[in-house]
Amino acid sequence: MDDIQSLFVKNILRDAGSTLKDSGSAFAASNIALSKYWGKRDAALNLPVNSSLSVSLGDLGTRTEIRLADADSVQLNGTPVELTDGFAVRTLEFLKLFPMVGTHFDVRTENTIPTAAGLASSASGFAALVMALDDLAGWGLDKKKLSMLARLGSGSASRSVYNGFVQWNAGTSADGLDSYAEPLSSDWKDFRIGILELSKARKPVGSRDGMNRTVETSELYKSWPAQANRDIEIIRAAIEARDFPTLGKAAEHNALAMHATMMSAWPPLIYLQPESMVMIHKVQFARADGLEVYLTIDAGPNIKLLFLEENERAVVDVFQGLEVVKPFG
Ligand code: PMV
Repeated sequence: MDDIQSLFVKNILRDAGSTLKDSGSAFAASNIALSKYWGKRDAALNLPVNSSLSVSLGDLGTRTEIRLADADSVQLNGTPVELTDGFAVRTLEFLKLFPMVGTHFDVRTENTIPTAAGLASSASGFAALVMALDDLAGWGLDKKKLSMLARLGSGSASRSVYNGFVQWNAGTSADGLDSYAEPLSSDWKDFRIGILELSKARKPVGSRDGMNRTVETSELYKSWPAQANRDIEIIRAAIEARDFPTLGKAAEHNALAMHATMMSAWPPLIYLQPESMVMIHKVQFARADGLEVYLTIDAGPNIKLLFLEENERAVVDVFQGLEVVKPFG
């Protein structure tokens, strides 16, 4: 563990309670960014270059239960995970940030995200882990502090401590205490997200390394913070005004601009697969035909569609095999 991280954790836990329970548990919803986080200004504290805005995925997420134990053990969806497996390593490394709670943990994680959906679960995973730890240790932290702790596990996890539309403010201070997520007061009942799993292939480069490579080598990345700041404002205003086309355009523009910065890194980061390109064109054709559908893509090949309930039937007809999520129930 880094000294900077340890200081940060101590700072957050300064006034925390300490009524240890037998076990702690929590659920956190996964989220998809409409205006993306790409690039860190500080690696140890996971501080982003730019603010981001997401929508959470309702009951799709992670439930975690945690206990103190004599030896570490990690279960995922009812199956024990080897402690050398990447998932267990990241989980236990994160827990090592909290020696004041205990040395060894028994962690049981259930993802309610269908494995076929091809969604990253690190956002809901670290948010649920931190919230379960808060429950176990009896810290009684507020969401702002939980968001900052979840951020240490994975940046996007800072947004998963809330439901609905959420903004993660990049902050400017070096101590990381002004970089946390906040909920946007909005409930958009007929908002829909469609998930298209195009490839199960493992990401060639994880988001951490991918971001660093982009920031260090991509000339185009220089224009990214301004684009991200512009898009987040457009999307916020569109949520308030219930202006779906404006939101959709800005989200799609933002995702493709992020991929452009990735592709212009060296060695190039090409997360899109041929199937992704086919779908990008298909979305454009569908829109040219009058269907109000937009897309967003994270650091992987799978496509998420954005549309309203009134177009759900038409969208499902065009995009076979779509998993439809209702973020607001
Ligand atoms: O939270 P991380 O380190 O997995 O990075 C997330 C990066 C994107 O999914 C591409 C964008 C985002 O804001 O979620």
